[in-house]
Amino acid sequence: MSIVVDVSKVSKHYDSREVVHELSLQVRAGQCFGLLGPNGAGKSTSLRMIYGVTAPSSGCVHVFGLDVASESRAVRARLGVTLQDNVMIDALSPVENLRVFGRYYLLREPLLSQRIAQLVDYLELGSHADIPVIALSGGFKRRLAIAMSLINEPELLILDEPTTGLDPAVRLSLWTKVRELKANGKTVLLTTHYMDEAERLCDYVVIMSQGGAVCQGSPKQLIAERVGKDAFEVDCTAAEEHQLLDGFGSLGKLRAGARLLVYGADVSPLVQRLHQLDPLRPFVMRPANLEDVFLAQTGTRLEAGA
Ligand SMILES: Nc1ncnc2c1ncn2[C@@H]1O[C@H](COP(=O)(O)OP(=O)(O)O)[C@@H](O)[C@H]1O
Ligand SMILES: [Mg+2]
Repeated sequence: MSIVVDVSKVSKHYDSREVVHELSLQVRAGQCFGLLGPNGAGKSTSLRMIYGVTAPSSGCVHVFGLDVASESRAVRARLGVTLQDNVMIDALSPVENLRVFGRYYLLREPLLSQRIAQLVDYLELGSHADIPVIALSGGFKRRLAIAMSLINEPELLILDEPTTGLDPAVRLSLWTKVRELKANGKTVLLTTHYMDEAERLCDYVVIMSQGGAVCQGSPKQLIAERVGKDAFEVDCTAAEEHQLLDGFGSLGKLRAGARLLVYGADVSPLVQRLHQLDPLRPFVMRPANLEDVFLAQTGTRLEAGA
């Protein structure tokens, strides 16, 4: 599979502060690739360097095999970007916004109107297509933003926090759209601080923290390798922990305040042990997830800074 985005040891400084540190990643054609990390991790800055509006302090970025530093116009013509904050004209309707944006890409009639009609249909904007954007809900605005980023039929779609702040039903419908785009052959690069979103949508993720990549891989692979399939959670003291885990040295463990988290291929024996020690103690047994990977790698919760 060909490589669409190639980021090699990219760093970014603002004054003396390094906000991205030696980030390397490769996005393959047809992948949904996620930059996952809490607020301030450096996700948006990394994206900006990928689509060529922020210059790296060091390192290089190639998109479609082109050097973004010297060929940013050629690169930008072939990709679509949905920024973290919706960029649209509030007084205009979705159709008018799409028209303005299409003209920016030098699309002419009748192609422009055809494409607008397709996108209004595809992103289910029809019922509100002629209402000023200012009157639209957050979910509609987000769908319009995605429609706008698709106007030039980009090969690569970049989505910065596509579902942040949206309610669960709207998030679900946007996830479906992202999956459809991927099924239609688009390469998708997105950022999110929702580990469930990354786990559902992404074939491959880079987990970022404080400007650096903490680890990267497919969500399944990261979970299996870094924590194990199962997770067990209970509130307990250090003395109780000692009793609970006695003889279970092969299981991984972490603490988040009073909460003890234990990971492994099979944590069911812990349930029996806890039952012997304190039959009434509440506990949780669940599949391990990317949140656990983040916690295991950084010692902090993913959404803590969100
Ligand atoms: N133009 C800028 N000037 C100075 N600092 C910036 C600038 N852009 C981002 N930062 C800082 O870089 C860090 C990473 O920001 P950002 O890439 O937006 O993170 P994320 O998208 O993961 O939330 C933040 O601490 C932010 O304040
Ligand atoms: Mg951001």
